[in-house]
Amino acid sequence: MKNFYIETFGCQMNAHDSEKVVGTLLAEGYSQVTTPDEAELVLYNTCSIRDKAEQKVFHRLQQFKRNNKGKKIVLLGCVAQQEGERVFEKAPFVSMVCGSASYNQLPEMLVQLETGNKRVTGLSLDTEDTFDTPLTRRENPHRAYITIIEGCDKSCAYCVVPFTRGPERSRVSASVIGEARRLAEDGYTEIQLLGQNVNSYRDPSPAGWDFATLLDQVGRVPCIRRVRFTTSHPRDFVRPIVDAIDENPALCNHVHLPMQSGSTRVLQAMQRLYTRDEYMRRIEWMKAARRPIAITTDIIVGFPGETEAEFEETLTLLREVEFDAIFGFKYSRRPNTPALALDDQIAEEEKTRRLQIVLEMQREIQLRRNAAYVGTVEECLVEGFNKATGQWIGRTSQHKTLNFLRPASGGDILGGYVDVRVTRAGANSLAGECVH
Ligand code: 5AD
Ligand code: SF4
Repeated sequence: MKNFYIETFGCQMNAHDSEKVVGTLLAEGYSQVTTPDEAELVLYNTCSIRDKAEQKVFHRLQQFKRNNKGKKIVLLGCVAQQEGERVFEKAPFVSMVCGSASYNQLPEMLVQLETGNKRVTGLSLDTEDTFDTPLTRRENPHRAYITIIEGCDKSCAYCVVPFTRGPERSRVSASVIGEARRLAEDGYTEIQLLGQNVNSYRDPSPAGWDFATLLDQVGRVPCIRRVRFTTSHPRDFVRPIVDAIDENPALCNHVHLPMQSGSTRVLQAMQRLYTRDEYMRRIEWMKAARRPIAITTDIIVGFPGETEAEFEETLTLLREVEFDAIFGFKYSRRPNTPALALDDQIAEEEKTRRLQIVLEMQREIQLRRNAAYVGTVEECLVEGFNKATGQWIGRTSQHKTLNFLRPASGGDILGGYVDVRVTRAGANSLAGECVH
């Protein structure tokens, strides 16, 4: 019996790719083990979005060098695609590198690996296909990911993704809807549509659906109670998406819309293709919606040339919008990207200072905003139980964590939907009690 161990770094796209890779390996007769020590085949599905993520991968490989005892080591994902055959020089004990655009070829590559080829590669980006497989082995029994679009055709100056995931390929709408129906039949109630830029989805079949239509139709699949999507690009985020959320209760009250900077000058240098005003217009659409749409974002501080005044424009935008949550990052130089050529790098300490200011300001905003939920009743999908605190872990439609108490006699409610009254609010989560 052949066995494997896999560890995944990075985003939800990677997490879902790993589910497909695991399904493929199981179908090829491998069994999965839970530690690298037991495994004959060790796979790392890697991320290279920032230097730190990439270093983590090479650190893991160094740990292995000492102790690999004849195991076969495989590098998948974004670092594999970015570094390509250079990996074999940097880490000679790695015997296969494969980027996400080549996962369709995994079965053939595994055969090469098994027959002793020590340098198996899958690095082509010129695929027309998506990695669309019925073999996916899903990790979460309630929420399922569906890839609707792979790759990215934007060229944000800081971003490595167009180089690691290749050009955009949308999946046929009937295939997406078919997968959603099968998932509903298998008992999943929440679906998360995935892509680097879901908004630029364009159905390649004659039906020709745009993203808003696809989103609405997935929300109409019987027994699907919640649909989320990530990630959006402001340039392609159009009003019909907000209208769809307003009209279809199965679509969650949450949009993640990365803004990156509040300064139009910096946005232009980042090649983001929108201005601060254009971003704000999208925020206004959402704030004017009938349903209370939670809005979250990504911010990069310290992009080359970002002045103090431009950084402060990010702060004023944060104050104006009052996001429900943000992910803040210090700019990190990435190979191949246009921003590599820019002068005027910001010092590391200065980036750290700017990020701290952003995160502190946002913490206060979240505390204040979350306090407004105290006394309201929110429907939660029950995602877990915390033995230490005796609380169930729920998730609201707005994607807020709501930990709650419930009489012990109530039985197992994992995966169910319950109404919870909010009694307390922190910056990052809410707490409450189950309503009967
Ligand atoms: N440096 C810092 N942050 C980055 N991101 C993407 N590339 C970089 C980079 N080179 C951030 C962006 C993106 C999120 C997923 O990661 O904010 O939206
Ligand atoms: Fe990391 Fe981006 Fe690759 Fe996801 S797509 S794994 S975030 S580099």
